[in-house]
Amino acid sequence: MKQRSTLKVLWIALAVAGGLAFFWLVVLKVLIRLNRGRGAPCPASLPWLVDNPLRRPCVRPILDRVGIRPGERVLELGPGPGLFTVEAARRVGPTGRLVVVDIQPRMIAQVEKRVREAGLTNVETHVADAHHLPLEGESVDRAFLVGVLPEIPDQARALAELRRVLKPGGLLSITEEFLDPDYPFAFETIRRVEAAGFSPERRFGNFWRYTVNFGKTLR
Ligand SMILES: C[S@@+](CC[C@H](N)C(=O)[O-])C[C@H]1O[C@@H](n2cnc3c(N)ncnc32)[C@H](O)[C@@H]1O
Repeated sequence: MKQRSTLKVLWIALAVAGGLAFFWLVVLKVLIRLNRGRGAPCPASLPWLVDNPLRRPCVRPILDRVGIRPGERVLELGPGPGLFTVEAARRVGPTGRLVVVDIQPRMIAQVEKRVREAGLTNVETHVADAHHLPLEGESVDRAFLVGVLPEIPDQARALAELRRVLKPGGLLSITEEFLDPDYPFAFETIRRVEAAGFSPERRFGNFWRYTVNFGKTLR
């Protein structure tokens, strides 16, 4: 009897702690957003913020949504320390190419280390700003961004660049996660990307983690 009531108290304590943790997470997100505003890159000195046991299991499902095919030239914009890079490079295979662009040299250094250790030779890295992609027009089949778009100060310009580098019929895949302090709602992402000349083709996931795939509209 005593054991059952102890268990009950424990469950209640756990539920209260979970509720409080969630509440503080929301408060923290609001504070970070107000204090920092949008547009600050995730710090390269804290790679565990994005590469951690909580996120690792989502790599394959998110890349499944991106739909990479062997032989494609794929752009990964804002790879961070490269959580998605090795798996994406394996998916394009030896006849394809993964082009990786990040504004922070320390992020690109971490990506290059991972790629070297995996023995991959089909990855091209660039330290560059999304506002000026170092790629030729209509040169990539697919581009994907995970938790990147809200960090970019001029998103309209970055989207115009993505539109420029995508081939006709190319696909842009955007994933956002609630735990990211910059998290935008799906409707905000869709509105912004549509305004840049893309049309939403498919939506995956839920409120906590969603992916929207966009096609390049004809102009
Ligand atoms: C939150 S991290 C996400 C990393 C990775 N996509 C992931 O989900 O694990 C955002 C990344 O976007 C990069 N980034 C931010 N602004 C950028 C810009 N203007 N041009 C290129 N990369 C940018 C940051 O340096 C950082 O590596």
